[in-house]
Amino acid sequence: MAPITPAHELFDLTGEVALVTGASSGLGARFAAVLAAHGAKVVAAARRLERLDALAATSPNILPLAMDVTDTTSLEVAMDQAQDIAGPLSLLVNNAGIAGSGRIVDTAEEDWRAVQHVNVDAVWHLSRAFAKRLIARKAPGAIINIASLVSFKVGISSASYAISKAAVLHMTKAQAMEWARHDIRVNAICPGYIYSEMTDDYLDSAGGQEMIKRTPQRRAGDPSDLDGTLLLLASARASGFMTGSSILVDGGHALT
Ligand SMILES: NC(=O)c1ccc[n+]([C@@H]2O[C@H](COP(=O)([O-])OP(=O)(O)OC[C@H]3O[C@@H](n4cnc5c(N)ncnc54)[C@H](OP(=O)(O)O)[C@@H]3O)[C@@H](O)[C@H]2O)c1
Repeated sequence: MAPITPAHELFDLTGEVALVTGASSGLGARFAAVLAAHGAKVVAAARRLERLDALAATSPNILPLAMDVTDTTSLEVAMDQAQDIAGPLSLLVNNAGIAGSGRIVDTAEEDWRAVQHVNVDAVWHLSRAFAKRLIARKAPGAIINIASLVSFKVGISSASYAISKAAVLHMTKAQAMEWARHDIRVNAICPGYIYSEMTDDYLDSAGGQEMIKRTPQRRAGDPSDLDGTLLLLASARASGFMTGSSILVDGGHALT
């Protein structure tokens, strides 16, 4: 029998260097803090630098980096900047995302494109730049893509967003398939409704409260509800045989 690793060692990320996109608020800020608290050095990236500076003030392991993920031509440079300030990256959390609402016939092409640009194109560019660097270094690594409950389940008036998150799920599988031979694991977290700047208004509305009542656990999530799943997928010791997986964390919403 293989030796049993105690939990604190299983999730110890000392020596890992992570890039978390969309770290200026919500889930991304929490992801950066949790990875840093478990020993990883974390480059926290987003456009609102003052938010990142405030986050970095909470931990010596967090380093802020201004990044607009829609500026796709600069993402290779941004990846190099991340490595310059923190060292060679071993973990990428593709978390930056925007919501898109409206029925398909009412959605302007530029609004459709804006959602796909942040939620899909940027994940493709960043993952590719990250994997190219790991492959060149012959180093192992992991990507965690933030997909969604709506990767599996569409609703009225959220088609642009749901389609983008379904693409993230399929991208996760394609990346996992291509990069397993390079010891790069790629998995997805699929959150249900979690309180954040993206969802607060909806969850506090009458419609949101109705939706919460229909969710089996009868509550929306807190970003901390994702801590365990994040650590599982980030740690090669804990999930070394997992790639191409997606984990729903949704209070049972997908069952309805
Ligand atoms: N909350 C939920 O219920 C839920 C459920 C399923 C999936 N998700 C996914 O979880 C991820 C985080 O969402 P959240 O709920 O935490 O929302 P949030 O609080 O609105 O955070 C979104 C983050 O994305 C960043 N971002 C947006 N556009 C960007 C750009 N062009 N360049 C760089 N960063 C950009 C924002 O930073 P700046 O504005 O500072 O750039 C912000 O940090 C998203 O991918 C979302 O789709 C959320």
